[in-house]
Amino acid sequence: MPSAPAPSGSPRPDSGSPDSWWPRAWWARAWWARAWWERAAIYQLYVRSFADGDGDGIGDLAGVRAHLPYLAALGIDAIWFNPWYPSPMADAGYDIADYRSIDPVFGTLADADALIAEAHAHGIRIIIDVVPNHGSDRHPWFAAALAAGPGSAERSRFWFRPGRGADGSQPPNNWQSIFGGPAWTRVTEADGSPGEWYLHLFTPEQPDFNWGSPDVRHEFEDVLRFWFGRGVDGIRIDSAALLCKDAALPDVASTEPPGPAHPYSDRDEVHEVYQSWRAIADEYSTGKHGTGGLGDRMLIGEVWLPDAARLARYVGPGELHTVFNFPYLDCPWDAAGLRRVIDETLALNAPLGVPATWVLSNHDVDRVVSRYGRADTAFSLERRPYFHSLPVDLALGTRRARAAALLTMALPGSVYIYQGEELGLWEVQDIPDELRQDPIWTRTGGADPGRDGSRVPLPWSGTEPPFGFSPASASAEPWLPQPKDWRDLTVAAEAATPDSMLRLYREALRVRRAEPAFAGTPLTWCEAPEGVLAFDRLAEGGEGPGADGPEESGHDADGIDVNEAAATVRCVANLSAVSVPLPPHAGILLASGPLDDGLLPPDTTAWLYATR
Ligand code: GLC
Repeated sequence: MPSAPAPSGSPRPDSGSPDSWWPRAWWARAWWARAWWERAAIYQLYVRSFADGDGDGIGDLAGVRAHLPYLAALGIDAIWFNPWYPSPMADAGYDIADYRSIDPVFGTLADADALIAEAHAHGIRIIIDVVPNHGSDRHPWFAAALAAGPGSAERSRFWFRPGRGADGSQPPNNWQSIFGGPAWTRVTEADGSPGEWYLHLFTPEQPDFNWGSPDVRHEFEDVLRFWFGRGVDGIRIDSAALLCKDAALPDVASTEPPGPAHPYSDRDEVHEVYQSWRAIADEYSTGKHGTGGLGDRMLIGEVWLPDAARLARYVGPGELHTVFNFPYLDCPWDAAGLRRVIDETLALNAPLGVPATWVLSNHDVDRVVSRYGRADTAFSLERRPYFHSLPVDLALGTRRARAAALLTMALPGSVYIYQGEELGLWEVQDIPDELRQDPIWTRTGGADPGRDGSRVPLPWSGTEPPFGFSPASASAEPWLPQPKDWRDLTVAAEAATPDSMLRLYREALRVRRAEPAFAGTPLTWCEAPEGVLAFDRLAEGGEGPGADGPEESGHDADGIDVNEAAATVRCVANLSAVSVPLPPHAGILLASGPLDDGLLPPDTTAWLYATR
C-alpha cells in the first residue's frame, strides 16, 4: 500500500548510496518509506539445485551462503526459499517431517540463522515456504495417529475415515490426488488388520492436516512465530486455497468450481486461518517481539483460482499481503492476451490497495525460454505432456524471454525471478527416465514428465558438468544431470559476455530499482501498433510527459530539480512479427536486443525516456 511521501527535510535516500546517480526527488523518498515487498524483486531459490557446498551433489545452505554476493550483485531485494525442513523428500521437501528445523542434507538451524543474518547484512530479505495443507507421513503426529488408532484425538489432526463397501475396501469418497491416482490410502492397524483410510491431496506420503482441529491451528501459528522470531521476513504459503475441507467429505463433481460449495478448494473457512496469520505477521512487523529481522513481515499465498473475485478475498489489510499471479505466467506470448491479464491484475489489486505480483516461472512449470520457443506459447499444469510434445526453438524462446523480462520488470508491483531464469536456462526435457525424481512422473505412470526439467542444478562455471555446482572434490554427481550445452550459460561465461541474459537481468534490476518512474504505482497505456504493448510509468506525483513535476517551480523543498528525476519511462514491447518504429523519445534506458536503425525488431522490448 503506497504510503504518504516522507515529510520535507527528512533524510535523503541518496545519502551514502553506492549509486552516485541515485534518484534524488521526494517521490524517491516516498518509495523508501513503503513496505519492502510492494515493489521488490524476489529471487526464488530452489536450495537443492542452487549450489552444493559439501560435494554430495545436492545444493545446500553452505552453497547459498557462498553465493550471497552473487545475489546481492544481481540486485534482488529478497530470497524465497523452497522448503528447507527435514523431509523424506517424497515431493522434494513439500512433505515436511519437522517444521522447526533444517534437513541435514541442506545444513543445520545454525546455518539458517547465519544465512538469515548474512542476507540481512546484504540488505536481502528472507521468505520461507510453509506448507500447511499437508505434512509428511514421517511427521511425529502421523506416527502418533497411526499408533493411537481409530477415533483417537491423534487421528483427528488428519482425515482418517473408514472405507466404503461392506469390508471398507473402497476409498471414503471419489477425490483424486492432484498428482494422479486416488486421494486416499488405507492403513494397516496396529493389530495387522486392514484399517482406515487417510486423505492426501498430493502423494500418499503427504497426509492432509485437518484444519478443523485446534491443535493444527495452534501448531502452525507457533511455527510462524518460530520463524518470524528468527528474523524471517516473509512466508510463502503453499497450496493456500486447499486447507479447509467439508467435514462430511462428500464426493466431488468434476464440474464443481472452487468456492464455498467445493468440498476442499477455496472454502470460506480458510480465510479465518489467514486472518489469524496476518495478525501474527503484524505483531512482528510492529516490533512487539523485539527488533529481529529487517522490519515488516509479509505473507504471500500460492492460490491458483480462475475467479478473480474469489482470489481477491485472500488479499487485503486483514489477510495476505499478496498472492502469486499465475494467469500472467500461463498467458501466451501474445500482446492482446498479456494486456488483458495485466489490466485484470491491476484492476484486482488497485482497489484493495495491494501490489500486483509478476511471475514468469517457478519450480512447478516449464522454464520460460522453452515455453516461448514453442509454436503454442501458453502453459498449463494439466497439459504439460502436450507442451512437451512440441518442438522448441531455443533462439526464439531466448529472444522472447529477454523481451518478457523487461516487460515484466517494468510493471508496477513486485517481480519474482526463479533461479536460472537470469541465465536463460531452458526446460531440460530429455532427462533419462530412470533419473527422474518428481512424483508426478511416477504417479502418472510416465504420462506426465513432471517438473524435474525446471529443477536441474545451476551451472556456475567451467565447461563441463557439474559446472561449478559442486566443488571439485565432490563425491557425487549433481542430483539431476545438467545438459552439456549449458557451458555457454554458466554464471562465469555470462558475466563475461556483454549481451548475456545475466547482464540484461543485472542491468534491468539496477535501473528498475533506481529509476523514480518505476517507483510510482500508475501505469498508462499508450497507443501502439497491433501486437505492440506500450505503457508509461510515471514517478508518483509527476504528471506525465510535458509536465513540470509536482512542484510548480520545478524544484522541491531541497532545491532539487524534480523535472530531471520525474522523467516518464515508456516500456515498448514488440510481440508482432514485424519491426515497428520507436515512439519519439528523449533517450533509451535499456533494450532486450539490438535495435534496427531506430526500429524495434520483433520480440524485443525497450525502456525509453518519454519526450517532454
Ligand atoms: C505446491 C508446490 C509444489 C508442491 C505442491 C504440494 O504447489 O509449489 O511444488 O508439489 O504444492 O506441496
